[in-house]
Amino acid sequence: MHYYSLFINVLIICSILLFLVSQSFNQNVGPLVKMTNGQVWPKPVFQHNFDEYLTVEPENFHFNVTGYSCDDLYDAFKRYNHMLFLKAKQTFKHDTHTSTNFTFGKLEVLNVQMTNPCENYPSLNMDEKYEIKINNSRGHLLASSIWGILRGLETFSQLVHLKTDGSTVILNIMTILTHI
Ligand SMILES: *[C@@H]1O[C@H](CO)[C@@H](O)[C@H](O)[C@H]1NC(C)=O
Ligand SMILES: *[C@@H]1O[C@H](CO)[C@@H](O)[C@H](O)[C@H]1NC(C)=O
Ligand SMILES: *[C@@H]1O[C@H](CO)[C@@H](O)[C@H](O)[C@H]1NC(C)=O
Repeated sequence: MHYYSLFINVLIICSILLFLVSQSFNQNVGPLVKMTNGQVWPKPVFQHNFDEYLTVEPENFHFNVTGYSCDDLYDAFKRYNHMLFLKAKQTFKHDTHTSTNFTFGKLEVLNVQMTNPCENYPSLNMDEKYEIKINNSRGHLLASSIWGILRGLETFSQLVHLKTDGSTVILNIMTILTHI
């Protein structure tokens, strides 16, 4: 009799434990904070969006150097080019019909203007300011140092997001400043 009730108790405790464990696996799946579409973090000082979108297609988009350049810059282009189109490449369709319905053109180039030569190492007084302007088929990223350019490229990559049908990536026409 004694052993029997002990057995029942152990059985109940085991069931409760199993239930708790299975519950903890069921709930809280995925990240605590949901990822946004095309929102920028850290927040720039100024951001103005227009309610118009551009498509960005892997084979029709490139970074164009209009100021100083260096290996670090070209490495960053390679890295971000890969990141931008990682998701879109798997599902990208050459369907101009659906991609022109609510977009107003294509972004074909991001002109990257670094106004000083690259610095080899970060320093306490490095300049991380940048400015991004997206207008019609051209984008413009302006910064006075490689650190600003790298921050700007990160922001640019956050602005680009997948269209709901997963066909391609899109971008608001906008202006972003990290300083006024
Ligand atoms: C690329 O940059 C050069 C200057 O380096 C500029 O003359 C040219 O117009 C730019 N290309 C595009 C497509 O904006
Ligand atoms: C886009 O427009 C075309 C014709 O105007 C239509 O056949 C197609 O269904 C539309 N696609 C979407 C996603 O609305
Ligand atoms: C975008 O470019 C057009 C000319 O191509 C110009 O009229 C318009 O003011 C520009 N918009 C912004 C927000 O810079």
